[in-house]
Amino acid sequence: MTLPPTVEWQGDAQTGRMVIIEQTLLPDELKLVELTELDPVIDAISRLAVRGAPALGVAGAFGAVIALRSGLGDAGLERLADARPTAVNLRWAVERVKRVAEGDPERALAEAKAIHEDDIRTCRAIGEHGAGLIEDGFGVLTHCNAGALATGGMGTALAPMYVAFEQGRKFRVFADETRPLLQGARLTSFELAENGIDVTVIADSMSAVVMREGKVNLVITGADRVAANGDAANKIGTYGVALHAKTHGLPFYIAAPKSTFDASLADGGGIPIEERKPEELRMLKGSRTAPDSAKVYNPAFDVTPAGLIAGYITEDGILKASELADWLK
Ligand code: MRU
Repeated sequence: MTLPPTVEWQGDAQTGRMVIIEQTLLPDELKLVELTELDPVIDAISRLAVRGAPALGVAGAFGAVIALRSGLGDAGLERLADARPTAVNLRWAVERVKRVAEGDPERALAEAKAIHEDDIRTCRAIGEHGAGLIEDGFGVLTHCNAGALATGGMGTALAPMYVAFEQGRKFRVFADETRPLLQGARLTSFELAENGIDVTVIADSMSAVVMREGKVNLVITGADRVAANGDAANKIGTYGVALHAKTHGLPFYIAAPKSTFDASLADGGGIPIEERKPEELRMLKGSRTAPDSAKVYNPAFDVTPAGLIAGYITEDGILKASELADWLK
């Protein structure tokens, strides 16, 4: 990966800091931000300065170290875990650090680093398992950003692309721009291009037509939370892409680590969907796109039913929905 780590810890538990890429400024500016207090960590997560389910897990884990060393206790950890509701990795990581640390920041940091290192290994494994799906000459479509910028490692949905590229295969990627916050245009195309992969940005409204034109062979996206039956929440618009893929007879895969699966939910109906502020749709880069007088509906995620998903690219291999229950036991 040619970019600095999306999120990392520098220094010791008492005086160290979490360092993140400030993703709201990309692709114009690659800026690193140091976080040493809990409120700025929660703010960075809420503003999507750090985002993507596995990266939220890593940031949550390091944030928990900061909460514990600041003496903010369970209330601080709860606020952190609640900063974004859909990606299950955030709460999962905060609760894992809390359980192991028993209030000790040193133990919290050791556990947070283990979560980060696991994520690096997991992303690589997802890449190795998924790379075989990408053949020479393929077009691969993705939605939102599930790459290095969304994880502690090389990504989930983009990991098979990075590994197929390492293995010498030639393919092109279509990146949906992903309104309203443009993670596909700003982040996916940026990181793929930085790493030498052929990427074409398309408007969200174009995925059906590029499929009909025969330019796409395969769709891979990430997920924020997958229920036990395989229903998968991901960035708003993913469900539509999956429907288009079905119409055009194309396989649609979800790439996600086990930490993104929520075995406590029987199906996607129970996944909490974050609704974000109306300004994200009324304004774009400081310019108005809709009047204040218009109402806005801005859910950040949707749920793709398991029936539209060809398989789940995980660290343990590519699984079918029918295999998930056993794997999650
Ligand atoms: O709102 P975001 O940018 O955090 O949404 C991110 C996504 O929807 C990703 O596809 C998902 O978290 C998987 S990241 C590997």
